Amino acid sequence: MKKPWGGRFSEEIDEFLEAFSESISFDKELAFAEIKASRIYAQALRKAGLLSEEELDQILQGLSEIEEEIKQGAFPFRIELEDIHMHVEKALAEKIGDIAYKLHTGRSRNEQVVADERIYIAERLEELKALLVDFILVILDKAEEYFEVVMPGFTHLQHAQPVLFSHWVTTFAEMMRLHLQRCLDFEKRLKQCPLGSSAFAGCGFPLDREFMAKALSFYEPTRHSVYAVSSRDFISELLFILSLIMVDLSRFSEEIILWTSEEFCFASLPDRLTTGSSIMPQKKNPDPAELIRGKSATVIGNLFQMLTLQKGLPLSYNRDLQEDKPPLFQALNYTLNSLRMATLLVKGLKLNAEKISEHLKHGYLLATELADYLVLKGVPFRKAHHVVGEIVRYAEGRKKELSELSLDEYKKFHQAFEEDVYEWLTVEHALSRRNILGGTGKRVVKEYIDCLRSELKTMVGRD
Ligand code: ARG
Repeated sequence: MKKPWGGRFSEEIDEFLEAFSESISFDKELAFAEIKASRIYAQALRKAGLLSEEELDQILQGLSEIEEEIKQGAFPFRIELEDIHMHVEKALAEKIGDIAYKLHTGRSRNEQVVADERIYIAERLEELKALLVDFILVILDKAEEYFEVVMPGFTHLQHAQPVLFSHWVTTFAEMMRLHLQRCLDFEKRLKQCPLGSSAFAGCGFPLDREFMAKALSFYEPTRHSVYAVSSRDFISELLFILSLIMVDLSRFSEEIILWTSEEFCFASLPDRLTTGSSIMPQKKNPDPAELIRGKSATVIGNLFQMLTLQKGLPLSYNRDLQEDKPPLFQALNYTLNSLRMATLLVKGLKLNAEKISEHLKHGYLLATELADYLVLKGVPFRKAHHVVGEIVRYAEGRKKELSELSLDEYKKFHQAFEEDVYEWLTVEHALSRRNILGGTGKRVVKEYIDCLRSELKTMVGRD
């Protein structure tokens, strides 16, 4: 097949190179973005007097037909046409003849491909934001459902201090809130319209770039034509955000895996969200959580692939950049699906409040309370810490809880202990002391949940 650049060539492209260099097998994902950008570009050509009204109409009509065919799955993709840009151009020519080629006036695939990618990402970002909100909302619902449940909080995976389940689980809501903010901030850099940059030197025709940016609902045109076609910074930035999300989802998954283990027994998942073993009939495995954890590795890999792709590249466009698409699409699909899966997991999660409260008895979770008690009796904290350490060792040796030691025993360790120490040795008391902003006291956790709900309303108009 004759290539659009065929004029300069005396022989046809090597068959193997043709297959080697195609990108249609993956960039067909950009088809709708390509059509959207083309529509706007055609309008700009019309505004610059480079198309007649009639020609514009024909082009727009042709583009709509192509769009419809793609939607219906009736559009033929073939590797001889290399990429999505050539496919749309060729299909348009088949429909409306040579006028189709006017659409390419002053236009280069170098700008087309980044324009398409920015449009495509802007659309997928809406999906991503909605899924982040869905996930946050189910976490908040779950936190409210089990608001009163107190669990051991961990550091180093060792029992540390009591914490409300609602506080512990909303950690993930808070992480996602920040990712949502990152998305909103990223949009400012993403939504710059490269159309009019041409191959790299800027278009030779006076196109209204402001118009094109506005028509796409972008903030502004890109300010530099070489930058516009050279850089994939916006893909790296997106992949970084996706990696952060996946890292947090992998930690969420790990919590689910731990909580539903026989050892913890904090929670269970419904059968529909677990899988069995082909050999051990009793098994009920948390595979979805493990898969999210596994997919996080892929997305992090996609980010590194993207950064490495650009490292040391000469300006401006180089064909290497064609390789930006597989990691982009993969990272988006993996992250969006992982968010969907994580949302289902939270929805289906059932707490075993009884088992959780049994765990509260172990691990001397209230040792910090004892140290704080001594501080209020005037003992310097480091000293109090040491004294309580000795008490814990003593109690452990006698297989006793802190509340089971007598006042005489306490007084042996420090004279400051009095009868009121026992008021400090309840989980409720420990929580009530932590109504500090961001802490695990019931009042502030409730406030946190309410605030986040109303913040989501203003951030993305959802509740
Ligand atoms: N398929 C190409 C890509 O994805 C489009 C740009 C091609 N530009 C060029 N000068 N060959 O990067």
